Amino acid sequence: MTPTGLPDSLIATLPGSYYTDPGIFAQEQERIFEAMWFCAARSSELGRPGAFRTVGVGRESILVTRSRDHAVRAFHNVCRHRGARLLTEEGGEVRRAFQCPYHAWTYDLDGRLVAAPNLTKMPDVGRTEYGLVPVHVREWLGYVWVCLAEDPPSFEEQVVGAVVTRLGDVASLERYGIEDLRVGRRIVYDVRANWKLIVENFMECYHCATIHPELTEVLPEFADGYAAQYYVGHGAEFGADVEGFTVDGSPGLERIPGVSAAQDRRYYAITIRPQVFVNLVPDHVIFHRMYPVAADRTVVECDWLYLEEVVAGGRDLSRSVELFDRVNRQDFEACERCQPAMGSRIYAKGGVLVPSEHHIAGFHDWVHERLGTAQPR
Ligand code: FES
Ligand code: FE
Repeated sequence: MTPTGLPDSLIATLPGSYYTDPGIFAQEQERIFEAMWFCAARSSELGRPGAFRTVGVGRESILVTRSRDHAVRAFHNVCRHRGARLLTEEGGEVRRAFQCPYHAWTYDLDGRLVAAPNLTKMPDVGRTEYGLVPVHVREWLGYVWVCLAEDPPSFEEQVVGAVVTRLGDVASLERYGIEDLRVGRRIVYDVRANWKLIVENFMECYHCATIHPELTEVLPEFADGYAAQYYVGHGAEFGADVEGFTVDGSPGLERIPGVSAAQDRRYYAITIRPQVFVNLVPDHVIFHRMYPVAADRTVVECDWLYLEEVVAGGRDLSRSVELFDRVNRQDFEACERCQPAMGSRIYAKGGVLVPSEHHIAGFHDWVHERLGTAQPR
């Protein structure tokens, strides 16, 4: 027996409070989302200088934009004068500067304070010193990643390393040319569940046979409930009579040219902690980002990425998108079914992980490690 009273073969989950307690959520925001690299936006949303997007990262609002030299920049979305939220829109485009609506302090695309009423009479207000406060930014796979930490962790270790762990090398991912693919469809899901329920669900396929009838038709090995997605680095193979990764197994779109023969007719799933899931299939890539907003609410933005000519050619993507849209809805409904019971006294000590879910324990260990808490084993 373990200290939690479970037989040695079983492992306890996190206690229910980890999914409901605003105090624990605040710690996660500070020690996970504000401390690690966080995938904020698709680079193509910032196609031109002045295009911007605002994103909640932990407890902060971050403004991501493209400057005149075409580099991506990210700043705290807070006016340096009296702290007004500079931009309240989720996205848009300015011509050359961001102007605070309160007293009209104006910042250029590099964040410098360039104008303010009567600025010349205020020599002590330095234009750089009182510029927008930058955060670290990187572009990879056609996405903009930000890090709010003063001294960020290694991007190579945290982000690229997660891909290497799943696929064996980064070249296997690069064959999909994700940065050159185009968003064919974006769906935003407002999920009434804690972000960790979504991660845990994505990491196991014990539920696949129960809730994913369309997916298990296309990927028969998922039907036995044992093929944890975490371990499908080898890539789950399409069923013999399946023609494409579509809701009815009908043919998909043009195959991405770099995809190797070994990757063809296979599905790969990658988790990049803390908030990205990537699915790779021969003709498209499905890229999920989670934006945790409360202990019991997570917005998930999901992009379906195809070859440029497929999207530009106006091809019918509906059967292709519908497969994983259904999978997402089935998964999020399951997470929403769990969320209300996390607060039950029955779940105060949590539940159990069966052997096919045992890698979720690794995720829980990681959460404990980040938060500086420890679970008895
Ligand atoms: Fe922004 Fe005053 S708070 S200009
Ligand atoms: Fe699922």
